[in-house]
This record gives sequence, structure tokens and C-alpha cells, in this order.
Amino acid sequence: MRKPVIAGNWKMHMTCSMAKAYIDSFLPLLRDDLIDRTIVLAPPFTALSTMSELIAGVSLELSSQNVHWEKKGAFTAEISPEMLLEHHVKYAIVGHSEPRKYFSESDEQINKRALSAQQNGLIPIVCVGETDQQREMGEAERVIRRQVEQGLEGILTSQLVVAYEPIWAIGTGKTCEAEEANRICSLIRKWVDFEDLIIQYGGSVKPDNIDQLMSMSDIDGVLVGGASLDPKSFARIANYQEI
Ligand code: 13P
Repeated sequence: MRKPVIAGNWKMHMTCSMAKAYIDSFLPLLRDDLIDRTIVLAPPFTALSTMSELIAGVSLELSSQNVHWEKKGAFTAEISPEMLLEHHVKYAIVGHSEPRKYFSESDEQINKRALSAQQNGLIPIVCVGETDQQREMGEAERVIRRQVEQGLEGILTSQLVVAYEPIWAIGTGKTCEAEEANRICSLIRKWVDFEDLIIQYGGSVKPDNIDQLMSMSDIDGVLVGGASLDPKSFARIANYQEI
């Protein structure tokens, strides 16, 4: 049985006071029978402390947007697992297409981040996905398979979330068709060779496509960017109902 993970990635948005206003309006909008799914928010590092206080006692989990592989040291701008654990963070997004693109993160670095997350008790959310050019050239499956094989080397599959985020669907309003997203997620499941692996879809997930996406056989959750910034729309996503 795979328990869906519905995660909101706030990216570089939200101050602590904005996070407080968000949580105040978000919590009352959640249905009170959501025990069949895990709801996660990934605020920027600066809001983690505030968020962990705001959601104490609520069934909502925290994720970081990255994690470093070393415990401490001269790594300006990075964050260690211990620093995250202090704020009750449970998940760590690694390999998102934005650090892959803007900071040239390699599969090898992503693998080190994911391993370090797991070894320190965090669950990595490892993102994979192709560009539109790679898709047009028929390279999507080969690219994703490489990201999966190199990014997940040595990883314990039971303490893992993989997020399939086609880059051309991120922030563009162009959602990948649910059937196609499902097909890629089922390939990832086959490559990883673990039936219980939690696989999310990410890329322009919204209140009006969540129910269909969550009805797919191999999509076990979503990683939401833009639509998670509005408490009403993210609550609607968290409250999804399969159709
Ligand atoms: P959007 O939902 O804004 O397309 O972003 C997806 C994403 O990058 C989540 O990590």
C-alpha cells in the first residue's frame, strides 16, 4: 500500500510572517479525514523554524529544499542534515531542475545529497525530468533513466520519494497529460524495481487537474510549485478526491 505524498515547494517565496498568515488560513481548509495521505510543505530555510512551531501537533510535515552531504564545514550557502533535523524536518528535496539548471548540479552531487539525507534520517525527494528539447528528440526516457540510475545509486528505496517533473511543465501552465505522466512514473517504478516506491508527479499541478492526476495507477502524490503558494488552492490539492 503506497501512501500518497502531497508536497508544496515554496521555492524562494514566503517570509516568516507570510508563512504564519498562510498556515492560519490553510489549516482550517483541510478536510479532517486526510489520514490516507501525507501533506508536506517545503518553505525556504529561513522559515523552517517558524513553520515547525506553527505546525506543531498538526499532521503536516516539513521538507527542506536541499541538503548537503557533509555534516559541517566550509560550504558557504549550504545546509546540513543536522540543521534541518533541529526543526523537525522530515523530507529533503534534492535534484530539483532549478538547481540542476542554475547551479549545474550533477547526478553525482544529487546522489551524495540523497545518500546523506537518508543516512541522517531524512527522506529524500529526488526530482527527475526531461527538457522539452530532450522530449522532442525522443530522449526523455533515456535521460530520466540516467537520472534515476545515477541519482539513486546505493539508496534505500523504502525511505525515498521520486518526483517526476518534466521541465517543460514546470511553471509553464503546460501540464503533462495524466496518462503520459503515469506511463513515465510506471517506467521509473520498473527501473527502480520496487513496487512500493512513492512516485510523485510535478509540473503545473492545480486544483483543476489534481483529481485526475491522483486517479492514475502509478502517481502516488504531487510536488506543487506555484499553486502551493495560495493556501486555498493548495488546500484543494491536499483535499483531492480520486475520480
Ligand atoms: P509548478 O507547480 O509551479 O509548475 O512547479 C513545479 C515544481 O517545480 C515543484 O517542485
